[in-house]
Amino acid sequence: MDITQLKNNFISTFGVVPTIFKSPGRINILGEHTDYNGGFVMPAAINKAVYVAVSLRNDEEVHLYAASYQEKIMATISTIKKTETNWANYILGVVDELLKRNYQISGFNLYIDGDVPLGAGLSSSAAVECATAYALANMNGLTIPQMELALIAQSAEHHFAGVKCGIMDQFASVFGKKNEAIMLDCRSMDYQYIPLNLEGYSLVLLNTNVKHSLADSAYNKRREQCTQGVAWVKAHHPSVNYLRDVTEEQLNEYVKPKDLDIYQKCLFVVQEIDRVRKAAESLKSGNLEELGKLMFTTHHGLSKNYEVSCKELDFLVEKVSALEYVLGARMMGGGFGGCTINIVKNEAIEQLIEELSKLYAEEFDRKLDAYVVETGDGAQSIN
Ligand code: GLA
Repeated sequence: MDITQLKNNFISTFGVVPTIFKSPGRINILGEHTDYNGGFVMPAAINKAVYVAVSLRNDEEVHLYAASYQEKIMATISTIKKTETNWANYILGVVDELLKRNYQISGFNLYIDGDVPLGAGLSSSAAVECATAYALANMNGLTIPQMELALIAQSAEHHFAGVKCGIMDQFASVFGKKNEAIMLDCRSMDYQYIPLNLEGYSLVLLNTNVKHSLADSAYNKRREQCTQGVAWVKAHHPSVNYLRDVTEEQLNEYVKPKDLDIYQKCLFVVQEIDRVRKAAESLKSGNLEELGKLMFTTHHGLSKNYEVSCKELDFLVEKVSALEYVLGARMMGGGFGGCTINIVKNEAIEQLIEELSKLYAEEFDRKLDAYVVETGDGAQSIN
């Protein structure tokens, strides 16, 4: 991102000099749909981020400009509400959450730009929310702990974007560190950084460039199915609050007889939580072959059991599964489009991208984008 250009754009839009903040998108190495089940996830922040340039105003007004949409939206602090404009809702949702928590904020101008690909499953929306939360806290002199910033951003997504997401994306966007994955326990919120040492290999994202429209509704439905499964077990074991607390035996006993579909969804989650533990061990000990196998197993589960994949994602994973220079691959994030994440031998990356781009275009008449992942730091101010 060209910061000078961003600053100049702000000045020509709003006539004053801004302060600039950024918050990154994320990848996830393993642990999908486990966060809202109190399980483990293993995300990392990437070096692609959302940038917000901000100045405070002397009135109650909020003036927003999005470079990607060349669109301006206005609002008033005391009457903040959801709008018809999706990109603005992520920002206004954060304002609303700050107010709900009794934080005092002034009116402000905000110009938003960034290089996180949109709709690619790299959590551009979490990056917008976290950049906004971080910027508004900073500009208004509010001392808000990092964890609360992530929670504010997550609540904004729940209430203004309508997706009942877990905490992974916002957590990674705030707490990310260059060259580190984060092993996060979403029940206790304890976390540890694990160095991303991939010796001779890289993480490569293959972007399907599709985002199927059922993504948000299916996400919320999966979450409800998990909640239902927990309730059936909890009726017999009151200490159970999440699928994290549930065993496969309990699923067999209390969920399977009631609803096979819900059973299958819950079983995936319980097994996936266990896989993240194993994945963390594999990464720590440098056993990338094992990590790769876990990724393929996760993909199979997400596709066939949790049913959140799509034909484009399945195609990309299937095509690399026989290649000896790809150790592992799977769909990443909520599903129904976005990217696959692949562990690829460095010397083979170029060839892989070339071959798959061709195959993908032939099959779907659509362009494949590829990114070699570089990690980065979490939310911060620039200047
Ligand atoms: C989306 C959500 C996350 C997480 C993933 C699936 O990215 O925002 O909270 O649930 O899907 O792992």
